[in-house]
Amino acid sequence: MLPTARPHAGALSRRRRSVDFPGEVIFNCGVSGRDRPDAGMEGDGQRPDPVAPPGQPQGEHLQLLLRRSREAKNCAYCPYSRFPVGAALLTAGGEIFSGCNVENACYSLGVCAERTAIQKAISEGHTSFRAMAITSDMGDHFIVPCGACRQVMREFGTDWDIYLTKADGTYIVKRLEELLPLSFGPEDLSKA
Ligand code: THU
Repeated sequence: MLPTARPHAGALSRRRRSVDFPGEVIFNCGVSGRDRPDAGMEGDGQRPDPVAPPGQPQGEHLQLLLRRSREAKNCAYCPYSRFPVGAALLTAGGEIFSGCNVENACYSLGVCAERTAIQKAISEGHTSFRAMAITSDMGDHFIVPCGACRQVMREFGTDWDIYLTKADGTYIVKRLEELLPLSFGPEDLSKA
């Protein structure tokens, strides 16, 4: 098990190696009837997955976060790219805010799903986040956030988990610190 690939209780048993991310372990989040009674068990159904780190979503909470990102994707307004994306953001208090990409005829005004979700949460008074799940229609690749979204996420800390999924529901998980190393944040403004 690599340090960056932490299985979460509720992650199902089918594990493969990723082509996009060599060495990465892929988890199956249970799309289209893959949920099984031995959810949370290793491949032989006998050994429980290691428990997720404290504060991180696990089990059915993680399933809900992943589902909310898939549902948000259905609302994507993307007539120009035809590339729908959904995101679901878990606050420290346990609420979920979802978002989709919203494009515009003036192309540069389009907003990514991740930033839509963050702006919804911030505008409702939430500034502390635990995790985000991101979903697209890509079957062979995990969706990854663009650089602008990584920087907007980083505004709210580096210590949270980003679930990157494929259309079949499999996912890998990355710390924001991994997605945006050596980042610039609010604390840096007072260092000059
Ligand atoms: N997009 C997202 O919403 N999130 C991502 O992680 C990658 C890209 C959107 C932006 C644009 O509407 C479309 O996907 C194609 O780039």
